[in-house]
Amino acid sequence: MVRWGIVGTGRIAHKFAEDLLGVHGAIPAAVASRSPAKAQAFAEAYGISRAFGTYEDLAQSQDVDVVYIASPHSEHRSNTNLYLKNRIAVLCEKPIGIDMDEAKDMIQTAKQHNTFLMEALWTRFMPGCHALLDIIKDGKIGTIQFISANFGFKAEADPTHRVLNPRLGGGALLDIGIYPAFLAYLIMGVPDHISAICKKGETGVDVSTDFTFSYSSGIEAKLYCTFEKTTSNEAIIKGTKGHIKIHSRFHEMPAFNLLDQKEGHKLFNFPRTSFGYNYEIEAVNDCILNNQKEHPQWTWQDSTNLMSILDRTRKSAGIHYDL
Ligand SMILES: NC(=O)c1ccc[n+]([C@@H]2O[C@H](COP(=O)([O-])OP(=O)(O)OC[C@H]3O[C@@H](n4cnc5c(N)ncnc54)[C@H](OP(=O)(O)O)[C@@H]3O)[C@@H](O)[C@H]2O)c1
Repeated sequence: MVRWGIVGTGRIAHKFAEDLLGVHGAIPAAVASRSPAKAQAFAEAYGISRAFGTYEDLAQSQDVDVVYIASPHSEHRSNTNLYLKNRIAVLCEKPIGIDMDEAKDMIQTAKQHNTFLMEALWTRFMPGCHALLDIIKDGKIGTIQFISANFGFKAEADPTHRVLNPRLGGGALLDIGIYPAFLAYLIMGVPDHISAICKKGETGVDVSTDFTFSYSSGIEAKLYCTFEKTTSNEAIIKGTKGHIKIHSRFHEMPAFNLLDQKEGHKLFNFPRTSFGYNYEIEAVNDCILNNQKEHPQWTWQDSTNLMSILDRTRKSAGIHYDL
């Protein structure tokens, strides 16, 4: 059994806790909040035995094997390093940090303390993602020529909320643009050239970013994210022999259509009864039980590659953080 702690009691922490309850071999053992009352209420809601009123108290306890960091982006590095330094394994929400310096520092801390660390890029562990990669690897759509993906929703209007607050690492690219970037990286690797433009909102963060990855082979990935409207939230992967259309919301990989020139249309469906966080939880459990420090399907190198892509996209679009 793997004993889990949850750090932070916001929106995603609740969804994660619900899925955690359904994972065989995972015990929801503790929760930590900056507020003792919030920790207590969260613990009661999910039948968690230990509630800590500070993140430090949980780090000092012997109650957990791994923690899930569910704080805003700006806090990921300090929260993650706190637990790693106490030799507690960490699954840290995406993006792993604000930039490459932070990502490298966190990975260095994991190495130094010989402790498991993974960025919670949950899409990578969805059954649909495994099936997608198998189809591409089998050559069903031939050589990839073009990728497009978008992720947009109407975000909170509150300028202090983490999605719009620059001090908490707000902005569309880091929050949701990471998913189109991830898809292009997963299929095509690190791009040779990146060009991006963004629209900034009243708080100074990007509310929309339009970005293109180009590869020396001539392939392009046209990517888009926005907090201003709901978009199709779909992705297309076009190859010389066919294409794949991933249905909305593509980063949850609920279903996709394969158009294969030989066999025609085929629908692949991946129904689930959970939010979908159970797959990454199971992946982390396996690593902890097998004493692995990183997951082979989303390695430290993958996280730094993706972060380097996000840094280059930000540079091209003129997105800066001053935390
Ligand atoms: N994988 C996914 O599907 C997904 C979806 C949404 C969000 N996320 C990621 O999860 C993280 C949290 O997102 P969220 O939507 O859950 O945010 P949220 O609702 O604002 O919750 C964040 C929590 O972090 C804690 N926190 C620690 N330091 C904080 C600070 N300085 N300011 C504000 N809160 C602080 C708070 O919990 P306490 O007060 O209890 O300490 C707060 O409730 C983000 O990095 C985001 O990218 C992932």
